[in-house]
Amino acid sequence: MSFHLCAGTGPGLLLRLFLVFATVSVVVDGMNLWPMPKSVNYGSQTLYLSKDFKLRTEGSNYADGLGILQDGFSRMVDIVVASRAIGPNVTNSHVLAGIAVEISSSDDSLNFGIDESYKLFIPSTGYPLFGRIEAKTVYGALHGFQTFSQLCHFNFTTRNIELHLAPWIIDDQPRFLYRGLLIDTARHYQTLTVMKNVIDAMAYTKLNVLHWHIVDTQSFPLEIPSYPKLWNGAYSYSERYTMAEAAEIVLYAQKRGINVLAEIDVPGHAFSWGTGYPSLWPSSDCQQPLDVSNEFTFKVIDGILSDFSKVFKFKFVHLGGDEVDTRCWMTTPHVKKWLDKHGMNESKAYEYFVLRAQNIALSHGYEIVNWEETFNNFGNMLSPKTVVHNWLDVGVAPRVVAAGLRCIVSDQNNWYLDHLSTTWQQFYMNEPLTNITNHEHQKLVIGGEVCMWGETVDGSDIEQTIWPRAAAAAERLWTPFDKLAREPRQVTSRLAHFRCLLNQRGVAAGPITGGGRAAPEEPGSCYKQ
Ligand SMILES: *[C@@H]1O[C@H](CO)[C@@H](O)[C@H](O)[C@H]1NC(C)=O
Ligand SMILES: *[C@@H]1O[C@H](CO)[C@@H](O)[C@H](O)[C@H]1NC(C)=O
Ligand SMILES: *[C@@H]1O[C@H](CO)[C@@H](O)[C@H](O)[C@H]1NC(C)=O
Ligand SMILES: *[C@@H]1O[C@H](CO)[C@@H](O)[C@H](O)[C@H]1NC(C)=O
Repeated sequence: MSFHLCAGTGPGLLLRLFLVFATVSVVVDGMNLWPMPKSVNYGSQTLYLSKDFKLRTEGSNYADGLGILQDGFSRMVDIVVASRAIGPNVTNSHVLAGIAVEISSSDDSLNFGIDESYKLFIPSTGYPLFGRIEAKTVYGALHGFQTFSQLCHFNFTTRNIELHLAPWIIDDQPRFLYRGLLIDTARHYQTLTVMKNVIDAMAYTKLNVLHWHIVDTQSFPLEIPSYPKLWNGAYSYSERYTMAEAAEIVLYAQKRGINVLAEIDVPGHAFSWGTGYPSLWPSSDCQQPLDVSNEFTFKVIDGILSDFSKVFKFKFVHLGGDEVDTRCWMTTPHVKKWLDKHGMNESKAYEYFVLRAQNIALSHGYEIVNWEETFNNFGNMLSPKTVVHNWLDVGVAPRVVAAGLRCIVSDQNNWYLDHLSTTWQQFYMNEPLTNITNHEHQKLVIGGEVCMWGETVDGSDIEQTIWPRAAAAAERLWTPFDKLAREPRQVTSRLAHFRCLLNQRGVAAGPITGGGRAAPEEPGSCYKQ
């Protein structure tokens, strides 16, 4: 990892290098940014945060109608102070009075492709001393707050919050536009509190899409006003979300710069739909895939996506389409008769189903994400507005982008969090652009996503299964390629610091020694485990 050193007067470069690294060995926290920004310059001055640390807004374009900036600032101050009793006010000239933020766009709508860049300046001289964030959108400014929060730490001698190595000049923007984390509320219900905790930690790591795999074979927890019996497929009376609660999650995420990608997985993975509406099952012996021959099936999908479009404002909806076993369509007499009448075999019927669902989504203004089997089976038939979501194999992304479609990388050997034996090193090293050299093709890989499938996670263990491994992938997705470590051991200590920071912030991130959901093996410092 290389850093640009501040040019300027003072000691010569060699001496300066020595000073910086000598300082670093004592004051490691100032250098432990995660994910690593695009460009970082710093000096050697220590600053003290004012007890009355202020937000100052500059420029008149951005009105902060939803309070996104103000709330983001307050949360940032809270995690920096971390309930510590701050000592007596410092009165010297190195007190940082606050941060001035200038946002040039008045638009606070969040969606795919918005500008998330920011510049963060922390001067070391001047009075009063203000840090400065410049961003196109409020969401860039929020990333600036996250970076700032990692520069601050409590000094146990002075009892002040200190910021070392000022002046700082950080210029930052994400490498990929789509940086996702999947949670699955069908295999286990996840409470709103748990979901919000996951969203908070996503903001700390600069991930920006919560892929909400809402329903599956096992349960249908979400209220669908158009078809109010669908959530009869919930595990229990209380393991449900009202549509108002879904809207609350979307707003909570938006205020942290995180989009919500809602998924219904059709036509497989949909057994639970039939609890409320048994006619969606082809027969009592064939309860999935959904009945392709029944117009009601597509009316229900239309109703769901119509209700979704009022709450889930992200540009994309995920329509699943994976692991579809169509054999029992052929053995269900009324379905077989319908297939024969329409001259379709079972694979053609799978294609027909997926394409018809795509058209419904398009009619509600969505672009579509589908799991990779749809591409593998009939890629040339998919809407050009499809993003193919890789999960099975590593070679798919090159083929998808060569076909002119967009791709999200999640290959299960490296980015499945439910695979507990996958190490953070594998998460870190998984490169979405492997084997894609053409620049136009590279642009079609919109990003990647780590997947927390829910079979063995609930409120008791989800956080330590996600973190810190998802954070390792988050740096791969955020940091420019030439700044990423070539060997994971180059970032071990920095990731260990970030994992301890997550613990300090109340996130149950597991030790980095071991795979997912590991427990500490023996007594010792957080930074060594
Ligand atoms: C410290 O600063 C705060 C905020 O400016 C002020 O309210 C408080 O009175 C100061 N305390 C002392 C001991 O000066
Ligand atoms: C804490 O403050 C003291 C006194 O200014 C200083 O000597 C020490 O290096 C600081 N410790 C850290 C870890 O920054
Ligand atoms: C289904 O029909 C298509 C032609 O429409 C054919 O290419 C394909 O091999 C058939 N699939 C099966 C499983 O019979
Ligand atoms: C890249 O291409 C090589 C050679 O075809 C292949 O062995 C490897 O699996 C590919 N890797 C990925 C991640 O696609």
